[in-house]
Amino acid sequence: MASEKVVEQRRPSFERLAIDGGTPVRTAPMPPRLLIGMEERQAVMDLFDREMVQGGGFDRYRGTEVDAYEREFAAYFGTKFATSVSSGTAAIHTALGALHPNPGQEVISAPVTDPGAIMPIVWLNCIPVFADVDPGTFNLDPASVAARITERTCAIIVTHLVGQPADLDPIMEIARQHHLPVIEDCAQAHGARYKGRLVGGIGDIGAFSLMGGKHSTSGGQGGMVITNNEEIYWDAKRFADRGKPFNSSERMNLFLGMNYRMTELEATIGRVQLQKLEGIVKRRRDLVAALREEMQELDAVHLGKVIDNVDPAYWFLLVKVDGFKLRASHDRFAQALAAEGLPVTPRYDYLIYESPWFRQRQTFGQSGWPWAAFPAAQQIKYEGSCPKARRAIDTHMVIPFHENYGEQEITDIAKALRKIERAYGPERPAKSST
Ligand SMILES: Cc1ncc(COP(=O)(O)O)c(C=O)c1O
Repeated sequence: MASEKVVEQRRPSFERLAIDGGTPVRTAPMPPRLLIGMEERQAVMDLFDREMVQGGGFDRYRGTEVDAYEREFAAYFGTKFATSVSSGTAAIHTALGALHPNPGQEVISAPVTDPGAIMPIVWLNCIPVFADVDPGTFNLDPASVAARITERTCAIIVTHLVGQPADLDPIMEIARQHHLPVIEDCAQAHGARYKGRLVGGIGDIGAFSLMGGKHSTSGGQGGMVITNNEEIYWDAKRFADRGKPFNSSERMNLFLGMNYRMTELEATIGRVQLQKLEGIVKRRRDLVAALREEMQELDAVHLGKVIDNVDPAYWFLLVKVDGFKLRASHDRFAQALAAEGLPVTPRYDYLIYESPWFRQRQTFGQSGWPWAAFPAAQQIKYEGSCPKARRAIDTHMVIPFHENYGEQEITDIAKALRKIERAYGPERPAKSST
């Protein structure tokens, strides 16, 4: 704090920050995300009208909405098959379950992600192994993936975090060399493109979350698993419905599974939402392009890195703050931004191996399973194993953002960042008055 005071005394000409008693850039709240509209409402009313005449109780096997949603989802993402489930967590569980891993096998995953992408690994009694990331994007570093492969590895889960496609080509190449299936976790990246192709259909399986905060939703909760592999498709469908003998001459259930079925109500909403996805993603890209333009002259604060040949889907904004160029701490910068009227989270601080459930192995009673059951798993040192992920977290702030933002919001974000950088940044030569 003392050093920040000194800065202010030495540089009296810049605009006084709101955190120091100045006028905030923005006082109005950010606009709400109006994801659900009349189209979803009408589709649900129509479904009610049909169910009230035909019966069915919104069960997918008595209706047509879930089947249609699956067909449309697969067509949109360019895969042969899609099977719907009840959440993104269920989608990851189903994708892995369809691969029939043996207990003790290892699944390589991104270290910064939602617990819903990791817990299914543990439910299958497999061992999560975290590869490190590109600290600019938070996404898997292919070299680190290669280094973490062992004879026990059975799959790689590639997360496209925050709507940024991961660098898939080298990861696919490594996976092919080792005959490993790749699951793309697209929970945060609906509609993002890698080298022109929509993510989700590039690996062996794509897993989506369709919860209400995502680019498109099936109404609160939902998920989808897509693939071009027919065998994987049937086993995913079976896994998500208690091992039912779909596409089989057996009469009774084939293997251990869950009941992750989607309902007709969810699919009805999801179908309408899918039609809006293209527009939502485009709008987000346009807004980010405008913001990038407005932030051009900034020196210490930049939008998160975008790798070559990708079109991100921008779930929220990652803003990189170069602490070496500023005379304020990362947290002070975030506080200053909040004081200017912008919603901000100082860090996307979700390094999985740091969370209590993982560190304390709060899994199956007091057993410590699956780690305790496998000597190789007990040898894995997680703490500190992904230093670049930690660096990524500590150098980026999160600014929420969505397609209902307008020009004013973009201008305000840029203005607030500029104002704070000026106050805390390196001194610039005074402008000549002649
Ligand atoms: C990357 C990622 N994977 C998986 C999930 C789990 O999805 P859900 O919340 O729908 O279970 C999420 C949720 O946000 C996520 O962000």
